This record gives sequence, structure tokens and C-alpha cells, in this order.
Amino acid sequence: MKEVDQLLLSNRAWAAEMLHENPEFFNRNINWQRPVFLWIGCSDSRVAPDQMTQSVPGGLFVHRNIANLVYPDDRNLMAVLDYAVNVLEVAHIVICGHYGCGGIQAALDGAPDGAIANWLEHARQVRDDHEAELAGLPEGEQRVNRLVEINVRDQLLHLAGTPAVQAAFAAGKPLLLHGWVYDLRDGHIKPLVRIDRDTVLDEVPKPERVLL
Ligand code: CO
Repeated sequence: MKEVDQLLLSNRAWAAEMLHENPEFFNRNINWQRPVFLWIGCSDSRVAPDQMTQSVPGGLFVHRNIANLVYPDDRNLMAVLDYAVNVLEVAHIVICGHYGCGGIQAALDGAPDGAIANWLEHARQVRDDHEAELAGLPEGEQRVNRLVEINVRDQLLHLAGTPAVQAAFAAGKPLLLHGWVYDLRDGHIKPLVRIDRDTVLDEVPKPERVLL
């Protein structure tokens, strides 16, 4: 229970610190949120979107799942996306993968049957679609990280094809989609690919390798 007590204590300390820095900190957040970004990232505990972008509460609308996958039939993500695009009217959607992703590693290795293997179906599809390039890389870190990068690009294409994003593009909304990777080794986010309403989705190239 020590860890749980510590978590709750840390929360009180944080609240006191925020109040000390700005007495209006909590008042201004009570009634509404107006985030500029929807963040779609991996559930990995080492990849903390608010901290690594120094975002304050109210800055990022967040959805996370293992290996940052976008399934058009994922009710959870589609609801998040609909709300972000049509109610909050975010200007940017980021999909952020990360160096050494365990989900991507499992998609390469083949996870044992079960919930995780089921979830990773799209990641295995990305692996199979780019088998030739991946097979040309040494096994291990390099192959995993290349699949991390290609996966971000392919998931961004899935995102671009969703009804919510297509409708926003058709309506001329200034919505931008960004594919990024986070490098655990130096804490840097590296942009890979960007999609806007004029992008021809069939022509989005594979990203440069950045997780070397
Ligand atoms: Co991950």
C-alpha cells in the first residue's frame, strides 16, 4: 500500500504547488476545456505526453493504447476523435510512437494468443506490408524501431481516412495530422510525417529513418 499512499500524497503536494504558483489555477479549469491538440500515443509508462511537451492541464486531449494503433472500428478511439474534432475543434492530431515499443516488438515476435495478440492485429499487418524492408535490417533494435516509424505513418493514414477527419477536411477545417516518434534515449520527439486536407493519401511516402 505504500506506493498508493505515496501517489495520493504526491497529488496533494502537486495541488498545493499549483495553487502556490497561481491561485486561479483550478478555477480556470472547472467549466470548460479548449485543448489545441489530440494526442494519440502508446500506453507505455515511460512516454508521458503532458510532461514531455510541458503541457499544462487543458493542453492535450489524450487517447493511449498499446502501440498507438488506429482501428476505424475502435469505438473508444472513434468517440475520442469525434469529440476532439467536432466539439473541441482541435487544430492538430498527433500520433506518437516511441523507441523500443514493446507492442511493436510483440508484433514482430508474435505475442502468445490472447488479448494482446488480438489487439496487435494492425501492427502485424504493418509488419507484413513492409516485410521486405524490415527483413533487410538486423534483427533486434533496428528492426523494431523501423517498424515503430512505419507504424506511425500507416496509423496516420488510417486516421486520415476516418469519417471524422474526412468530414473536417471536406469542410475546409484547418486540421493537421502529425506522425511523430519519441526517442527514450534523449527525450526528443522527432517529426516523421504530416498530413493536411490537400495531401494525396496514396502518395504519402515512408518516413526517413530517425531512430538510428
Ligand atoms: Co509502446
